[in-house]
Amino acid sequence: MAIPVVDTDYLKEIDKARRDLRSLISNRNCAPIMLRLAWHDAGTYCAKTNTGGPNGSIRNEEECAHGANNGLKKAVDWCEEVKSKHPKITYADLYQLAGVVAVEVTGGPNIDFVPGRKDSNVCPKEGRLPDASKGIEEVAVSIIVCCVFTVDNVSALSGPPHLRDIFYRMGLTDKDIVALSGAHTLGRAHSDRSGFDGPWTQEPLKFDNSYFVELLKGESEGLLQLPTDKALVEDPAFRPFVDLYAKDEDAFFRDYAASHKKLSELGFTPG
Ligand code: HEM
Repeated sequence: MAIPVVDTDYLKEIDKARRDLRSLISNRNCAPIMLRLAWHDAGTYCAKTNTGGPNGSIRNEEECAHGANNGLKKAVDWCEEVKSKHPKITYADLYQLAGVVAVEVTGGPNIDFVPGRKDSNVCPKEGRLPDASKGIEEVAVSIIVCCVFTVDNVSALSGPPHLRDIFYRMGLTDKDIVALSGAHTLGRAHSDRSGFDGPWTQEPLKFDNSYFVELLKGESEGLLQLPTDKALVEDPAFRPFVDLYAKDEDAFFRDYAASHKKLSELGFTPG
């Protein structure tokens, strides 16, 4: 598919789409699912093969039907309302713009958005997104694997290999893993979508550092902690970032904005 020409007209459409997304997301209180859509389109990226990534492919039935994407059809359809008003904009740009706007309208940091992503119809194979049930217990496997194979990241010797397998494949780091997990400050899990249930924080429509504050408190009645969330506290290389973000919201916002920008630009070289 063609690379969009990012000229003055395209930039104007991006501005208008940004305004439309702002009002749609505020009116329908759908920031969490829009952010999840942006993440699931981008999070399939494989740096080695330069496949997957923020390329709009999640709109295709085949990919949208992957188990990890349960519930996201609704967000795809809402974005379609904006796309029909601004057909020039690629789906790839639109979904990433929706993610950026979702963070902003809920009080999170401003995230630099650079347009020009190309759409793709090629769907990655199922299984590239993280599995929430895989926590720190995977450590034993990690150590065995590390003894057999050479690893180029020493921190992989300790801690959950699953999160690292997934995020290192995208070319992201331990700091990105922790900062981006802070997106769970928004929204909730739904038993009919993922099998998990409940919000991570008391105010799931407010983007702040409370996800980390709650993580450090341990389990609380009515709040959720996935095995992959708990792994951030238990893993010695992740833990310092959790401690920092829980006590310093500015540090979290700064690192989140940088990691989110990286996620939204995986495999994309702005023209
Ligand atoms: C929701 C897993 C990382 C943003 C969820 C849900 C699960 C999950 C199981 C519940 C889905 C449902 O039942 O509706 C994971 C795992 C991750 C991860 C295992 C690995 C670190 C991320 C990242 C972001 C993100 C990197 C964004 C940057 C969200 C949001 C929701 C969510 C906003 C709430 C959706 C809603 O309320 O509808 N995640 N996630 N997650 N995730 Fe993640």
